[in-house]
Amino acid sequence: MKMTPVRLMEEARRARRKAYAPYSRFPVGAALLTSTGRIFLGCNVENASYGLTTCAERAAVFAAVAAGEREFAAIAITAREGRGAPPCGSCRQVLQEFAPGMWVYWRDARGRILKSRMKALLPKAFVFRKGHS
Ligand code: THU
Repeated sequence: MKMTPVRLMEEARRARRKAYAPYSRFPVGAALLTSTGRIFLGCNVENASYGLTTCAERAAVFAAVAAGEREFAAIAITAREGRGAPPCGSCRQVLQEFAPGMWVYWRDARGRILKSRMKALLPKAFVFRKGHS
């Protein structure tokens, strides 16, 4: 079955149901599609010590990497209906690390799916190379 943006977004919605967001009450779900066709889900996990919160996108990336996957084709992200959810800056940096060419799908406040290549969302990204400054 071909994985379309709409289908991947449905997976993200499924992931969102698992979100632990008692503080912000802003549950987020992410579905990450690998180049091999596997899907990894992530949700935000908040904490009483607010700064320890992890975003849905990073949870999905870390699950994929822990399973041995590092090549990503796309990620879909969704918050509750009526709430747009483009990836935050920290998540952009983490996605960029593995797949600058991947597609990022998110929804606007009207529920429409928007898309962009990862690298377009993080111009002049930080890259670290030994011996270069
Ligand atoms: N959040 C995400 O999960 N992904 C983002 O890209 C932006 C923010 C979560 C973190 C926090 O639990 C809640 O949304 C409100 O900031």
